Amino acid sequence: MSKFSAPKGVKEYLPPDSAKFEFVRDGLLFPARMAGYQLVELPVFEDTEVFTRGVGASTDVVTKEMYTFDDRGGRSITLRPEGTAGAIRAVIEHGLDKGQLPVKIFYQGAFFRAERPQAGRYRQFYQVGIEAIGFNDPEIDVEVIAVADQGYKKLGLSKYKLEITSLGDLKSRTEHRKDLMKFIEKLKLDEATLERAKLNPLRLFDDKRDEIKKLMQEAPVLIDYLSNESQSHFSKVQGLLKQLKIDFVINPRMVRGLDYYTGTTFEFVHPLLGAQSGIGGGGRYDGLMSELGGSEMSGIGFGLGIDRTVLALEAENVAVTTGDQIQIYFVALGEAAKSLVYETMMQLRKSGVRSDMAYGDRGLKGAMNSADKRGVRFVAVVGENEIKTKQIEVKNMNEGKSKLVTLAAKDLIDFVKQN
Ligand code: HAM
Repeated sequence: MSKFSAPKGVKEYLPPDSAKFEFVRDGLLFPARMAGYQLVELPVFEDTEVFTRGVGASTDVVTKEMYTFDDRGGRSITLRPEGTAGAIRAVIEHGLDKGQLPVKIFYQGAFFRAERPQAGRYRQFYQVGIEAIGFNDPEIDVEVIAVADQGYKKLGLSKYKLEITSLGDLKSRTEHRKDLMKFIEKLKLDEATLERAKLNPLRLFDDKRDEIKKLMQEAPVLIDYLSNESQSHFSKVQGLLKQLKIDFVINPRMVRGLDYYTGTTFEFVHPLLGAQSGIGGGGRYDGLMSELGGSEMSGIGFGLGIDRTVLALEAENVAVTTGDQIQIYFVALGEAAKSLVYETMMQLRKSGVRSDMAYGDRGLKGAMNSADKRGVRFVAVVGENEIKTKQIEVKNMNEGKSKLVTLAAKDLIDFVKQN
């Protein structure tokens, strides 16, 4: 028993499974790069107010799940529960919105929510995210959705579903809110629920209690209140998705867990993941820039959960190819062989051949065992005889066959690259 364990609710990725994590992260980022999004590397903590104002006071994220503490200077600091508010803070602070539009940025890293841990729900989790800020074009909405869709497809996933809806513009939401509040006030709700509804009545669509779920089935939905403009924007989004052959369903009752959403919002759900089925989600945010002290500029983005995407790959039995398997593994017997192999191996590494050697004095059997466990492609044993003849037998571990290769870095590099 080790004396310490990782904090409750965190997920750690260790070899060999960490290869899946890398595969997912890099696979999801690739289409974002192809679409011109550029990296921002941001702090994992921000002034608490960035999130209370940005994410919104009615959300579980702000009221129950933030890791908030005073730093040594007495400032209230919060570990980032999501990426958008901090990204927008940085865009405003560094004036990116004064340059080329749209601002197209991506980020990846750890996020923190003090949730009740369960499969697929962690207190430290990982996201890949993008944000496109500056224009309110349906083409950009669909670009963002397409980047996510391409990422999942590139990884080999096929069973996920895309759900979309529109939360409309201010006019649509104001009209809907009036009717929804009238509806809610007629229900006999407890004080806390009513207070929550006053902050954001849409939250009640997301209430986990069965009795509230039932009551809300009759509630008016925003999609029926879309202004002409919002309706036309949403129709264009649907048309473009069809044109790109990206399947979707409209879910008028979708509620995202963050308050900043307006207009097009979406979620990718995976049916094999049980309760935590949301593998990614995002949407447009018209008011966030101005809420955080910037200009009136609209943006849209997504956050894709790396952890849940790894689970989705496992659920769909997708084989992960990582490309970082050791290509040649040397076993050196004796001091002279060790020294020669060591130098040769370093040259191979410089030439882009992934190589390693047996360290420690474990003898031939132990070294071969280790090669087997690590799944290396070729093994070469070098002893006194090999040094004399300058020839080594390189064994293909999958096929069990060996070939004689000259004991020189150049010949070994050629051999590994060609085989
Ligand atoms: P979100 O839906 O809160 O959106 O999170 C995005 C994804 O992060 C979820 O779909 C899920 O896969 C993953 N995730 C969230 N919480 C957890 C958790 N506790 N454990 C494991 N995975 C989790 C956002 O965060 C927005 N910032 C997305 C966005 C960007 N909207 C516009 N731009």
